[in-house]
Amino acid sequence: MMNILVIGSGGREHALAWQCAKDDKVNNVYVAPGNAGTALEPKCQNVVLVSTGDNASEHSAIIDFCQNNAIDMVIVGPEAPLVTGIVDACRDAGIQAWGPTAYCAQLEGSKTFAKEFMEQNNIPTAAYKGFTEAVAAKAYIDEQGAPIVIKADGLAAGKGVIVAETIEQAYEAIDDMLADNKFGDAGSRVVIEQFLQGEEASFICMIDGKNILPMATSQDHKRAFEGDTGPNTGGMGAYSPAPVVTQDVHEKVMTQVIQPVVDAMNNAGHPYTGFLYAGLMIDEAGDPYVIEFNCRFGDPETQPILMRLQSSMVDLVAQGLAGQLPSDAQWDSRPALGIVIASKGYPETSSKGDVIAGLPELDDNNDNAVKVFHAGTTFSDSDAIDREKEVVTNGGRVLCVTALADSISDAQQAALAVTGAISFDGAQYRRDIGHHAIARENS
Ligand code: AMP
Ligand code: GLY
Repeated sequence: MMNILVIGSGGREHALAWQCAKDDKVNNVYVAPGNAGTALEPKCQNVVLVSTGDNASEHSAIIDFCQNNAIDMVIVGPEAPLVTGIVDACRDAGIQAWGPTAYCAQLEGSKTFAKEFMEQNNIPTAAYKGFTEAVAAKAYIDEQGAPIVIKADGLAAGKGVIVAETIEQAYEAIDDMLADNKFGDAGSRVVIEQFLQGEEASFICMIDGKNILPMATSQDHKRAFEGDTGPNTGGMGAYSPAPVVTQDVHEKVMTQVIQPVVDAMNNAGHPYTGFLYAGLMIDEAGDPYVIEFNCRFGDPETQPILMRLQSSMVDLVAQGLAGQLPSDAQWDSRPALGIVIASKGYPETSSKGDVIAGLPELDDNNDNAVKVFHAGTTFSDSDAIDREKEVVTNGGRVLCVTALADSISDAQQAALAVTGAISFDGAQYRRDIGHHAIARENS
């Protein structure tokens, strides 16, 4: 029997924990720190790993927990611990941890590293230039014209990107990041890049240093409001598969993007292990351009992708850790679609403590066709007897209602029906998740 530790507290981690718990070989899935959903999931329990806040102390809290609880594998959800080297630290301590090393995680941790890496390895991406001085940045904007994209260099939780429609908006973003320091250290250096036109897709793989196992394709919805308007968010909903990734596009992504990452990291002496997420723009001609790399599974993409996974996640990670990833996995042929319900004020702010009503019972999921993954949730009173009735909001993205159905539009309808029954003060969600694929289905 196996014990697993999942690091993180989002919808992605709920989906990963739920998938791991389904495997009969698994005894316990610990989630650190987890959310109300992971606390309620069979075989799963949340753990609080106490650290004094610095990286070394966080790493040793995780390592101590693994050693004291006979953990067989650690699955790291979010980018922050990967960027600070949790996988390196676990390996040094003899613990099996699935994810990239700190070196490889720079692909997400530094936009400048990622852009230089792509340039050196001929990976298609938008033309760009890096700046630390507002005057020089603005001169470059004048030269390039609008629309143009301004990005904070470091980690900014998906929110450090401004797609400026006008020169004025671009100037404003430069002033925010370089002059006013709105994004802190993450924004003390900016990358300005060419605006790419096309349709986005998320291409996520498991990589064991050598072998590549592509996950089912997916598409996220980054903007806060319907019709892909409003500010960028961490993602308001996703579905899988993404029809924009045709067989031809899939092959191009594998040969032009993913394989070059694997080869270049090997040449640098730092084999890439873990999930790798290429955020792509696919142009009219079906050519992919990398918008960004993430060194982890996507959120909310994980939720619909793992709804469709029929292979054991635990077996896949074990094979990955052993350097023996297969080249494909078993997927439910039906599409899945997840709708994020966010809290009041998201993405600028988020609201905590709003009581969530209308959550379906855990086993009330009609033939496993709808699953409510939790993200920013907790219990108002951790000692309450009927804890399920006491779930409250605890962050920006609160839930992801995910449905599996015969078509994307049926999955959207099924997810909307459950989403509509859930309520809390200030709840907001998009009714048009999947619109690109549904337009294709209808034509
Ligand atoms: P990122 O955090 O780099 O993924 O950017 C967030 C979102 O901004 C992306 O999902 C795109 O919707 C948009 N975006 C980023 N870079 C570009 C670009 N060069 N051209 C067009 N849209 C972009
Ligand atoms: N859904 C976008 C991300 O995970 O970065």
